[in-house]
Amino acid sequence: MLTRAPGAASLKAEANTTMAALSMDLAAQTTPQKTLPKTKKNKTNSLLMCVPRLYDVDYVINPWMAGNVHAASCELASAQWELLYEAVTRIAEVSLVEPQPGSPDMVFTANAGLLLRERNEVAISSFYHPERQGEETHFRHWFRENGYTILELPRDIPFEGEGDALFSQDGSRLWAGYGMRTSKSSHEILRSAWGIEVVSLELVDPRFYHLDTCFSPLDGGYVMYYPAAFSKSGVKAIEEHYPEDKRIVVEEEDAVRFACNAVNIGRTIILNNVGSGLAIELASLGFEVIQLDLSEFLRAGGAAKCLVMKLRHI
Ligand code: ARG
Repeated sequence: MLTRAPGAASLKAEANTTMAALSMDLAAQTTPQKTLPKTKKNKTNSLLMCVPRLYDVDYVINPWMAGNVHAASCELASAQWELLYEAVTRIAEVSLVEPQPGSPDMVFTANAGLLLRERNEVAISSFYHPERQGEETHFRHWFRENGYTILELPRDIPFEGEGDALFSQDGSRLWAGYGMRTSKSSHEILRSAWGIEVVSLELVDPRFYHLDTCFSPLDGGYVMYYPAAFSKSGVKAIEEHYPEDKRIVVEEEDAVRFACNAVNIGRTIILNNVGSGLAIELASLGFEVIQLDLSEFLRAGGAAKCLVMKLRHI
């Protein structure tokens, strides 16, 4: 079941010019394909998104938001989100959670929680910053209504969902960030509640405050990451698990464009605009690279991956 974005048609009308321009950009990217990639829609993947109708930068809880309070254009954000939505719906089903007043960051559904697919259970986020704690009720409600069981973490143990916890592509191991938002003790809770392997990675650069801003396990056993965002032991853990030929090291220039904040399903990678070097590298590994301008979301410290959360296979 594909849930169409409410008001998508009108959004589209408003956004037509921008979208045409952006689509042309897209086709003109450095990737080898001249037209949009023809990845087959994989109906087994399902994602959660939230229309940016109430999106804004209302407060500062990460360095990207500083200087950007109320500076994002809601119109442009809607047009950019719509292009992302269209790209994503080519390869996955998308469900939508209704945006709620007072929760402008709800659009970043990666922070709703983390799903353990085998159990159909969602570990609901326990946000570090009070500014986002109001989202917990809304996301909890959505997951309950949609048939998921809920794993509650203690309120005083911060955990920010998929933003800080990413399964390896084969699902065998959970990579979990800590040090900025999520606490390391939440990793222990997930490990014992779910009986899974969790590898904790310490984040050390405030610009990369969530794991999904600097680390992306990719199809084919690859990983794309920005080493300077991690402590020495974090880098060591990544290098121990991924052989050199599977590591895609992102330079700072692309890291600050949120290159690692990529949506990857099968051979398709959807991400913010990055430099041609990285785009070519990914394409040479067989990925179809779809670059989108997500500037308005960067103002809040998020890009493609932050705007989606993985749901169960359907
Ligand atoms: N403004 C939001 C915050 O600071 C952005 C969240 C980005 N989400 C993510 N999964 N990295 O919490």
